Order: sequence, then C-alpha cells, then structure tokens
Amino acid sequence: MDLDQLAALRTPAGGTALATATGLAGGDPLAAAAALRATGVPADLAAAALTQAELRRRAVAKFGPEAGGMFFTRTGLEQATRRVVADRRADRLRAAGVTTLADLGCGLGADALAAARAGIRVYAVEADPVTAALAAANAAATGLADLVTVACGDATTFDVTGVDAVFCDPARRRAGTGRRIFDPTAYSPPWDFVLGLAERVPRTVVKVAPGIDHALVPAGAEAEWVSVDGDLVEAALWCGPLAEVPRRATLLRCKEGPPLNASGRGRAPSYHLSGSGTAEAAVAGVRRYLHDPDPAVVRAHLVAELAADLDGTLADPTIAYLYTDVPVRSPFTRCIEVTDVLPFSLKRLRALLRDRDVGRVEILKRGSALEPEQLRRDLRLRGGTAASLVLTRVAGTPTVLIGHPVGQDGAVAP
Ligand SMILES: C[S@@+](CC[C@H](N)C(=O)[O-])C[C@H]1O[C@@H](n2cnc3c(N)ncnc32)[C@H](O)[C@@H]1O
Repeated sequence: MDLDQLAALRTPAGGTALATATGLAGGDPLAAAAALRATGVPADLAAAALTQAELRRRAVAKFGPEAGGMFFTRTGLEQATRRVVADRRADRLRAAGVTTLADLGCGLGADALAAARAGIRVYAVEADPVTAALAAANAAATGLADLVTVACGDATTFDVTGVDAVFCDPARRRAGTGRRIFDPTAYSPPWDFVLGLAERVPRTVVKVAPGIDHALVPAGAEAEWVSVDGDLVEAALWCGPLAEVPRRATLLRCKEGPPLNASGRGRAPSYHLSGSGTAEAAVAGVRRYLHDPDPAVVRAHLVAELAADLDGTLADPTIAYLYTDVPVRSPFTRCIEVTDVLPFSLKRLRALLRDRDVGRVEILKRGSALEPEQLRRDLRLRGGTAASLVLTRVAGTPTVLIGHPVGQDGAVAP
C-alpha cells in the first residue's frame, strides 16, 4: 500500500471496487482479480482493492464488523491492539480523569480510536507516512475524526506539554524483515525515551510484549498482563498516579460476552487478580484437583495470590500448577480431577491407558521437555474413552497425572 493507492481506494470508484472485492475475498485470488478487472476496474486498483478486502476480512477477528470500513496494511494489522483490549484500556484512562491523550507511534490507530470512543481527545503521531495516513483514514471511517488528530513525525520530538496522559505502544518488529523484537532496548521509539516519558507526563501507559522481564518494570509502576479467552496478548505498564497495584492479571472473555457490533463498545466480561508479584505459594503433595492458571496470572507472578484464593498449594516450587482437595470454581484456572499419579514411564503410562480403554487424550504440560504430539504418537491409543494427561514435575521428579476436566459448575466433563 502506498499513499496513491490509499487515495484511489477512498474515491467513489475505489469504494465501488472495494465493495465488489469484498464479495470476492477469501476465494481464489487469480479468479477474483480477473472477475474484478472484468467489471472495468483498472489492474492497479483491482489489486489494491483485493488486498484491502482480504485484510478487512482478517481484521474482523480483532475489530469486529467495524473492520469492514477501515484501512489496513498487513504489518499494521499484526501490530494493532485488538478492540476489546484497547477499549478496556481507554475506559480505565477515562475513569482516571484523562480527557486529552498523546498516542506516540499510533500505527493504524486502534488505541487512538478506542480512546476517542471513550470520549478522550487524542493527538496521535506516527513515523511512517502511509501508516499515519491510514490512521487518519480510520478515524474518518469510524466517525471519530473530530476527536483524533494524526501527525506524521517522530514521537521523540512530539510536544507532549498540555496533554493529561501519554500512551506509547513501541514497534516490536524490525522494519524491513518484520521479525519480532524480544529485547525492549531494541524497541522503536527507543526504550530510554519510553521510560523517560513518565518523568515528563506522570500519567503514562506503555504497551509491551507479554514476555517482558519483571526486572524491566520501572519502580512504582503497575505491570498488567492481559489475556483474551485464555491467550496471553500483551502487558502494559501504568505509571505515576495510574498505578494502582504492583502487579495485575486481567482476563477478558470475549466468548462469554455479546459479539462486537459496529456502533457499540467492545466490552467483554473481565476478571482481575492483583498482588505484589513477589509472594510464594506453599508447597505440598499432589491433591485431588489440579488447577492450571491462566497465562496472565502466571506471567504476572500472581500464582501465590491465586493459591490463597483457592486454598491451594503447589506440588513443586518451580511449577505453576495448583492443587486442592475440593473442586474450586474460578475464572482464573482450568480444573482437572486427578485420578492417577505416576513417575513418568512411557511403558507404564501406555499400559494404564489401555487398561482404562482410553483412546483420546488432551495433553497439558509445565516443566516437562516431552513433546506432546510425539507422546501422543508413541502411546498408540485405540480405546473408546477420553482422558487428560498432565506432564509435569512433582518435587523435582518427572511425573504424569491422569484425570478428567471439571466444568465451572464442578461437574466432571463427559
Ligand atoms: C506497535 S505499533 C502501534 C500500534 C497501535 N497501538 C495500534 O494498536 O494500532 C508501533 C508504531 O510505532 C511507529 N513508530 C516507531 N518508532 C516511532 C517513532 N520514533 N516515532 C513515531 N512513530 C514510531 C511504528 O511505525 C508503528 O506503526
């Protein structure tokens, strides 16, 4: 996508081509291009419209039906915050009294649009000219242009005096190759600049990769890890007066909530757990119910806080599975009733599963080097029932637990 292609797509002829391309997207690309050109659309516009229609189709998973009117690049879409996460962050900023926000490195504008939907005036800046133009086009397409101003420029020289708060979601992919960057010191804008923002604007929020080392969390900041339907998606550092707790895990459950609609807000049911991130859970043996914590809880180092809530214990100080004597209903864990505990031995495991007529297994693992798919093949199961296998360590010993999932109502799943 370049600026000329974007301009062409935003003309009436471009809109018609995009509408036709939307009906053709998802099928054979060569046939779609031929069909679009057969309607009289020039080759360049047809190619741009088909690419855009395909990106919009993929973007629905992140943005809901609103994606149908927005503009994307592949990299911009990959880096964009999904709407439920951006809306929740925007709600929290608004609830903290923020009315004006600088978005430094706004990408396609997913976070800027969410802030504007929450009623915040946004001043966004983006270094890449095409991406900046797409963010402005997205503000217009979603009816938020009055609340979002996009400038093309370098975030490090952007004037942040006069705004209530700053948001920065640094690029975590290398320009050109698109490869992920895991080391925050290689982020763009640079990490030193990002860390220094809170000294200039105390109400600063920084989005970071969920793998961030706790040692890199600035003193006094709140670090929040967010999962969506059990997938860990991001971490955010809430600085200055925005920090409420040292560590927080936020679980968003889109599957439990109403579907996103174009006019409504992207709210999903949410669950929060917070604590110091430094407490340690008590260790005891394996008990009857195993609890597999959500990855946001594990990454936030809140397993001890969860153990206290569940009245649970670990079976190994280094493995984040919790155990209780009774099934406990919790949005933060998945529960498995343990029927057998054996030191890992392929031969013994295979014999036991055959005795139980097990033919299908789900395999969970923490603290085991075994490859689940290889194990599944090695087990050569042919029985008629299902079981859960948990590959783990108990007091340092490689161990396999056999059991069944327990539903949220405490019933054993069929
Ligand atoms: C991770 S993306 C932002 C995504 C955005 N929050 C969203 O959800 O759509 C980071 C963006 O920062 C931009 N960027 C990187 N360094 C920058 C700088 N020094 N000044 C302005 N923008 C920059 C990149 O071009 C990229 O579009």
